[in-house]
Amino acid sequence: MIDAWILDWLNVGFRWVHLIAGIGWIGTSLYFMWLDAALIRNDPSRPDVEGHTWLLHSGGFYLVERRKLPPGQLPAPIHWFKWEAAMTWLTGFALLVIVYYLTRGVYLVDPAISAIGPGQAVALGIGLLVVAWAVYDLVWSSPLARDGGRAATVLSWALLLAVVYGLTRVLSGRAAYIHTGAMLGTIMVANVWMRIVPAQRDQIAAATAGRTPDATLATRAKQRSTHNSYVTFPVIFMMLSHHYPLTYGHRLNWLVLWLLIVVGAGVRHVMIAREHGRRADWWLVPVAAAVAAVVYLTSPAWLGAATRGGERVAFDAANTVIAHRCVSCHSERPSDDIFRIAPNGVTFDTPESIRARAETIRMRVAILKNMPLANKTGMTDAERDLLARWVDQGAAIDVRTRGR
Ligand code: HEC
Repeated sequence: MIDAWILDWLNVGFRWVHLIAGIGWIGTSLYFMWLDAALIRNDPSRPDVEGHTWLLHSGGFYLVERRKLPPGQLPAPIHWFKWEAAMTWLTGFALLVIVYYLTRGVYLVDPAISAIGPGQAVALGIGLLVVAWAVYDLVWSSPLARDGGRAATVLSWALLLAVVYGLTRVLSGRAAYIHTGAMLGTIMVANVWMRIVPAQRDQIAAATAGRTPDATLATRAKQRSTHNSYVTFPVIFMMLSHHYPLTYGHRLNWLVLWLLIVVGAGVRHVMIAREHGRRADWWLVPVAAAVAAVVYLTSPAWLGAATRGGERVAFDAANTVIAHRCVSCHSERPSDDIFRIAPNGVTFDTPESIRARAETIRMRVAILKNMPLANKTGMTDAERDLLARWVDQGAAIDVRTRGR
């Protein structure tokens, strides 16, 4: 096993590059989408210019033109914008390995969800990335993709929702979310490299040879780039989702993610329509409904944060449970084999430090039940209930037992 300290620094390095590459990739694709919409297209005196627009950025004026290439002429250099996608995928995959595959399953599996072992979960994760692309590409190369691709669209969305549901039944909530993101991210990058870039190569070859580019390649590339744009916002959420235990840790985490996919793709739909001079603003209605549903589902009212009755719990008892189940990780000196430093800097070594986080403890232990991580320390339901009652009763640090 690679030393935790090395893994931590690899994590920092890859994540840093991942973000920069991802921002570059998504940034340029949003920019080009916008640019296509912003072009002014009416200069009959210059038939080779499809459109132009003036931009002002960082102290300079830029004239951007979209043009047909004159036959047999290829300008140089041409910038392609394809490495950002590749870099984003490579660093993202490295992060998946570092965070999820080399940590003995703590983030990957959850015994309360399924009995799958870490090794099987890794195989499932990697298999998913490969199979998902193959299936998606097959669907969109099949007759289902004809006539505007309505059938293929319905099937693709249905498959995506099925994958979300399926993964949340097998992997930890957090891993289910990240693998859905990784799957979509893989499809996006494969779209770029295997469907869009070849079409661009053909355009270049056509321009050099003075022939017209292959229309099927071009249409398919356009279609794939539209797909990419729809999943972009949902994927960005999935990549950030590990910060939000309330989403992935929810009892109905699959439904929460479905709703957030509707939000992300719906917003994108409205934007894309506007960029093409159409209006699809009515889509904001399902988007708003999905937001409202998510807010409600994750509210204390739904989660049932109601005060528990039952016997009074002394701090002593709560502290004993925490000492047994939590401080192996959450301590100034963790004894855990993976967490050598207290996760998120959260320690439970003193009564005050426990009381200060009482509400979050109840949330993670009794409502979301995603602490202890992967239930590594074997916490029982009775113990979860005990901690929740202690918090509900005011999380008092009983004076008599202080400093235990
Ligand atoms: C195997 C190690 C491990 C054990 C055992 C463990 N945790 Fe955690 N805990 C983590 C990690 C890693 C994180 C950060 C990732 C996350 O938030 O899911 C975390 C985060 C938390 C947070 C959120 C901290 C923040 O920044 O908001 C709380 C609260 C928490 N744990 C409580 C507990 C409690 C209570 C127990 C015992 C019942 C426990 N943990 C047991 C690893 C552990």
